[in-house]
Amino acid sequence: MKKIAILISGQGSTLQAIIEACQTGFIPGKIVTVISNKIDSFGLERAKSADIPNRVFLRQDFTSNLDMDKAIGDYLEDLSVDLIVLAGYMKILTKPFTQRFTGKILNIHPALLPSFPGLHGHQQAIDAGVKVTGCTVHFVDAGMDTGPIIMQNTVPVYPDDTEDTLSERLLPVEHATYREALRLFCEDALRIEGRIVHYI
Ligand code: GAR
Repeated sequence: MKKIAILISGQGSTLQAIIEACQTGFIPGKIVTVISNKIDSFGLERAKSADIPNRVFLRQDFTSNLDMDKAIGDYLEDLSVDLIVLAGYMKILTKPFTQRFTGKILNIHPALLPSFPGLHGHQQAIDAGVKVTGCTVHFVDAGMDTGPIIMQNTVPVYPDDTEDTLSERLLPVEHATYREALRLFCEDALRIEGRIVHYI
């Protein structure tokens, strides 16, 4: 059973989907902590409701991003986590942190990478006029949304879409995609070879 840490900043609907998938046994893992960088993340309430330990790390309590990520890393190492899941964690992790946990950090991005990385993935897709967008689960490396891609799924984009209507369509697809990718990770069924992730 893999020990999972989940990092959030917001609503935590992704966290909720993962909590439920662990409870049903779909993901063979145990969430040992939820970390937020925002004191008012609703996801913290979801963690409490599920009896999962949670911690808040605020940037203002540290002298630098490096110090903050060092503290988070030390905490995660003390817990011996096997997997760090970014679930709407809206802060860029520092290079030493990503290097410390290479191959153990997963992220979901609301666009089909390498298109539309960074903030506002939905709006970037709408502005570009694409007819299909989607989500990408990937390993996290030192770059911004650049790590090896594990899984992607798509949704249509309609001419009158807004960021809200598109994210509402995409979110359930994100949850299903992340569940599946996390299941494969926890079953040791992923192997990275350069840019390519193989299912074994
Ligand atoms: C999700 O749409 C996720 O793809 C996005 O934040 C949302 C979190 O929703 N992540 C990013 O944009 C990462 N750059 P949630 O708080 O309800 O789980």
